[in-house]
Amino acid sequence: MSERTAVVTGASSGIGQAAARLLARDGWRLVLVARREERLRELAEELGDAAWVAVDLTDPGAPARVRAKLEELGGGVQLLVNNAGCGG
Ligand SMILES: NC(=O)c1ccc[n+]([C@@H]2O[C@H](COP(=O)([O-])OP(=O)(O)OC[C@H]3O[C@@H](n4cnc5c(N)ncnc54)[C@H](OP(=O)(O)O)[C@@H]3O)[C@@H](O)[C@H]2O)c1
Repeated sequence: MSERTAVVTGASSGIGQAAARLLARDGWRLVLVARREERLRELAEELGDAAWVAVDLTDPGAPARVRAKLEELGGGVQLLVNNAGCGG
């Protein structure tokens, strides 16, 4: 895992997707979080250095699943873009 890791929630569309693209351009390693796995997979492939967790963040077990992914990747997290929610 690279030095700087950012978790972006709501990365499957809208503001979160745009933020993920900008952060990737700035050299951040991304962990993309949302429910729609296919969209996360496509974005991860586009960004290159990205992982994803397809999860409903209202589920009680969601934080543990994100943490497990970070542990699997072998590093911590330096930035959280806590953006998931209902769009405007
Ligand atoms: N756009 C605006 O003008 C505006 C203004 C003020 C505030 N905001 C806030 O900014 C954020 C993003 O807005 P947006 O316009 O980019 O909306 P959007 O395109 O609808 O994106 C919302 C994102 O949140 C994810 N999401 C929603 N519920 C989720 C859940 N339970 N678990 C995991 N992921 C979930 C969606 O992914 P999945 O559906 O794949 O789960 C999607 O990636 C929202 O929190 C919104 O309230 C937006």
